[in-house]
Amino acid sequence: MSQRETWTSRVGFILAAVGSAVGLGNIWRFPYMSAENGGAAFLVVYLIAVALIGLPAILAEFVIGRETKKNVVDAFRNLGGPVAALIGVLGLFTGFWMLSYYSVVGGWVIQYVIGSLSGAYFADPGMYFGQVSEGTGTILFHAIFMAITIGIVAAGVEKGIEVGTKIMVPSIAILMIGMAAWAFTLDGAGAGYDYFLTADFGVIAENYQSIIPDAVGQALFSLSLGMGAMITYASYLDGDDNLLGDGISITVLNTFVGVLAGFVVFPLLFAQSIDPGSAGAGAVFVSLAQAFAELPAGGIIGFVFFLVLLIAALSSAISLLEVVVSYFVDNFDVSRPILTTGIGVMIFLLGVPSALNINTFTMFDNIASNILLPLGVTLTVIFVGWIYGGGAVAELRRGLGKNSSFGPVWLWHIRIVVFAAVLGTLALSIMTFMS
Ligand code: PHE
Ligand code: NA
Repeated sequence: MSQRETWTSRVGFILAAVGSAVGLGNIWRFPYMSAENGGAAFLVVYLIAVALIGLPAILAEFVIGRETKKNVVDAFRNLGGPVAALIGVLGLFTGFWMLSYYSVVGGWVIQYVIGSLSGAYFADPGMYFGQVSEGTGTILFHAIFMAITIGIVAAGVEKGIEVGTKIMVPSIAILMIGMAAWAFTLDGAGAGYDYFLTADFGVIAENYQSIIPDAVGQALFSLSLGMGAMITYASYLDGDDNLLGDGISITVLNTFVGVLAGFVVFPLLFAQSIDPGSAGAGAVFVSLAQAFAELPAGGIIGFVFFLVLLIAALSSAISLLEVVVSYFVDNFDVSRPILTTGIGVMIFLLGVPSALNINTFTMFDNIASNILLPLGVTLTVIFVGWIYGGGAVAELRRGLGKNSSFGPVWLWHIRIVVFAAVLGTLALSIMTFMS
């Protein structure tokens, strides 16, 4: 079997991880959730959740990956035996499941990139969303998005994922900064910033039972935690870099893109007096398309916006596929391109029902975001806290110094604070899901 691949540089790893993290979660979910949950007050709770829960949890995935240098199933098996390997199997399943519908959205976004240039959605944005989101055309563009994802992953860790994210992630940042600057010049910009950033701590005080788990859930989803993407990416590391430093870079960049998205989305909606609360699965598409249709040069701006969304979706999709592909590449003597294509085609087929019916799509998303990912994080945290334990501390200390006191503090923090927060989030998600 051929030599296992590694990243060519530390920056390569960081950009790939940021590419996984930055996705639809940042550009729509994050601004929308903060607006609904008390504006800047939610931002504060979210930032605390990222620092106290997201960062320690991403480090837990990093140490598992870097120590074992294995795919998610074999990583858990190596450290904890056959029962622990089941956490990895859950990760494989989640990757397979999530990519099936994530790719369907990717296909919608391609149609909006094209529609911005042709003007197809200008006359009736609501009707356009209906056409784009269900039917044979939806399947076709889902297939195109999957084909691009397969192409990048088939090219390998270095030549595909690393090269691809080195182009994609800086493009996302530059285009978003450009759009935020443009949005600043809009008439409604002030009202948009107010809506996004006015801290209403009263909302938090009244609804903390739902806002805290929302913020924790958003932090975990946004950092791609709970299905092994970060374990898999860290498994391609070699050397003893400081994982804490990498984790901080990744969480800061991910948050930065989310905040920038808020600085684009809200001025845009307020400039056209569109109510940001008019939600639903397609809200981002319908209400933003409406704003682009009405603004001068809106087609060009819309093109750039949806292009950024497409790149962000693609750089997350490749991490979902890589989790699954990595397992098969490590265990079967079949070439990566063949394995990637075979797995990708199966994921495409699983996505067809979501491309035909938006309720199926929503169900797939709810199961993944509310159950599979929080469950994966909870099991990972229990595993690292109580089974891997001292080994995890030793691995973390390789980049921090072997007596660094951060190691044991981190472990106890995982055992108590992170565990309680993720378990609470999971319990609430399950209760909401059942009701
Ligand atoms: N982090 C991605 C986002 O914010 C979603 C994602 C979750 C991607 C899990 C990969 C794995 O959109
Ligand atoms: Na994200």
